[in-house]
Amino acid sequence: MMTDILNVRGITKRFGGLVALNKVTMDVHEGEILGLMGPNGSGKTTLVNVISGIYKADSGQVIYMGRDVTNLPPHKRVELGIARTFQTPRPFNSLTVLENVMMPILHFGHEPDVRGTAYKLLEFVGLEKYAESPIGKLNLAMRKKLDLARALGTKPKILMIDEIAAGLSEGEVNDMANLLMSIRDSGVTLLVIEHVIFFLRKLCDRVVVLDEGVKIAEGDVEEVIRMQEVISAYIGEVIE
Ligand SMILES: Nc1ncnc2c1ncn2[C@@H]1O[C@H](COP(=O)(O)OP(=O)(O)OP(=O)(O)O)[C@@H](O)[C@H]1O
Ligand SMILES: [Mg+2]
Repeated sequence: MMTDILNVRGITKRFGGLVALNKVTMDVHEGEILGLMGPNGSGKTTLVNVISGIYKADSGQVIYMGRDVTNLPPHKRVELGIARTFQTPRPFNSLTVLENVMMPILHFGHEPDVRGTAYKLLEFVGLEKYAESPIGKLNLAMRKKLDLARALGTKPKILMIDEIAAGLSEGEVNDMANLLMSIRDSGVTLLVIEHVIFFLRKLCDRVVVLDEGVKIAEGDVEEVIRMQEVISAYIGEVIE
């Protein structure tokens, strides 16, 4: 039987007169990699912000492992296992790479050996050589991996990844896809926001498509990107 780790139920989020999310309903199955696509400004990041508790929805519910978490503050949701990475990673520039990973472990990881756990996570994402380096030594792909390691430090059960492939070379994108698959294989469910189609194709079991805050399609990647509604929504933008 397929179990849902997350149910988004009729979420509406307004910013003044703008309806950024319009009654969005979506289920995430435990253990899957679900892609979330949609043109610029369609509400993808806003949905992640609502699920993680950074924004409060105007209506609707967020159900996590059968529990209504709609009114919980962000740190409580992280404690329960809901983590995310950022479209633009924001590490602490005054700390080393290793110290950046130690921070979330200190707050949420419940590990006696914070430094050792952080180092293992750096090995997992392939950044151990940079453990003692300042953040300035990292290129974009490395910063995105650092952001992943930081999120993993909170021991998530579901990890929402906001445009991790944007701006990376093809080789880096492939490398990142393999890394995300190994995260899923370690037992973490993934919600992957992405524009890069070959990345979604390689990675996702299913995709959901948003357009102007409305869910317009859902299903198999190949089927969804051939749907007329999806093609129309992307007019003027490149589906790579
Ligand atoms: N804090 C905010 N205040 C006001 N408007 C906002 C805010 N956050 C998002 N919006 C608006 O809500 C809409 C959805 O934005 P969102 O960032 O969720 O889109 P997105 O799908 O992530 O786009 P992109 O692909 O460009 O990252 C946009 O019109 C955006 O301008
Ligand atoms: Mg976004």
